[in-house]
Amino acid sequence: MKYVNIKMLLVFCLTVTLIFSVCAQKPTLKNAFDGQFYIGAALNEWQIVGNDVSAISLVKAHFNSISPENCFKWERIHPQQNKYRFELPDSFVAFGEKNRMFIIGHCMVWHSQVPKWVFIDSLGNQLSRDALLKRMHDHILTVMGRYKGRIKGYDVVNEALNDNGTMRQSKWLKIIGEDYIEKAFEYAKEADPNAELYYNDFNIEQPSKREGAIKLIKSLQAKGIKISGVGIQGHYHLNRPSLKDIDESIDEFSKLGIKVMFTELDVNVLPSPKNFNGADVSQDFEMDKTLNPYPKGLPDSVQTQLAKRYADFFKIFVKYKGKVTRITFWGVDDAQSWLNNWPVRGRTNYPLIFDRKCMPKPAFFSILECAKSSQ
Ligand code: G3I
Repeated sequence: MKYVNIKMLLVFCLTVTLIFSVCAQKPTLKNAFDGQFYIGAALNEWQIVGNDVSAISLVKAHFNSISPENCFKWERIHPQQNKYRFELPDSFVAFGEKNRMFIIGHCMVWHSQVPKWVFIDSLGNQLSRDALLKRMHDHILTVMGRYKGRIKGYDVVNEALNDNGTMRQSKWLKIIGEDYIEKAFEYAKEADPNAELYYNDFNIEQPSKREGAIKLIKSLQAKGIKISGVGIQGHYHLNRPSLKDIDESIDEFSKLGIKVMFTELDVNVLPSPKNFNGADVSQDFEMDKTLNPYPKGLPDSVQTQLAKRYADFFKIFVKYKGKVTRITFWGVDDAQSWLNNWPVRGRTNYPLIFDRKCMPKPAFFSILECAKSSQ
């Protein structure tokens, strides 16, 4: 009898200890939104090679999806005709697999960051349609073929539209014609039939560009071409775009029967130079003190606005859980963000939810609150 009591006491103590240790664990983003959508982060080179120890420990704790910020772009992975550079992409994929993450490939066909050689022959003449299609085919088959079954989703075509919804006059369009997009998706399916295939762009939550994206997606679907989802990049500001546009775009895109994801989320808190818009990387403006108002730290009032802005986004995302399948932040912490150098070089920006010391910002906690209220 005495023995049974001691045993029961022991079991009771162990259970209590276990409950306490689970409760004492710090909440993580990926657990908070488990069963709703993936929480992703874009990784830069320094993180992929493991040098940025603090950021990497955040990635392991909070994220269950990763995107490569730069190392899969054509100029990086395929700088010369007969030369592929797979060292970093291999490490990126190995890291994702080791940590059981949903791995994204970004991006196969884009107007930017493509070396000049891709579009010309050995004499410097512009390639023919067929020759460029062959290059696109070889590139997609080689890259996606290497990671077949391991990378789960690809931004197959990136930023093919202008803000008014018309097709961007890229070299792909000019040399191949409008069907370059269908070809890219067909080649991607050929390379890895089970991978999710996405169209990815910025500003497509805004009505005119959204209309262009819907038209493009419908035309692929009408031809029986596989497209699994749309990536709304989500390079946002404190006061734009409107929440209404974000909400309506999820609704409209999901009605096409495809997954909707926010693939490059961040919030630029700095003033915009005149005539600046969107996320086109070619924009470059002169530095001026008025454009860099917070070099020594973000004022509390702006920190609060940022937290509210992120909470407003996540309230919409959880409203559409099941339709929204992934939220990826474009970076891990503020120090890493591309927005410190774009569209003006050398600014101090605060667009993410972890600060320069990899500590959670109020925005992090406001997002967690949204998860609680969505359960
Ligand atoms: O790594 C080199 C470094 O060696 C060199 O000294 C330095 C000099 O400028 O450049 C460094 O490379 C830069 C790289 O970012 C890493 O910081 C490139 O110049 C710069 O062009 C590159 O910018 C990237 C940009 O795409 C263009 O590829 C940003 O990091 C990246 O965040 C941004 O991501 C894009 C998405 O792919 C598509 N959607 C828009 C988004 C933001 O522009």
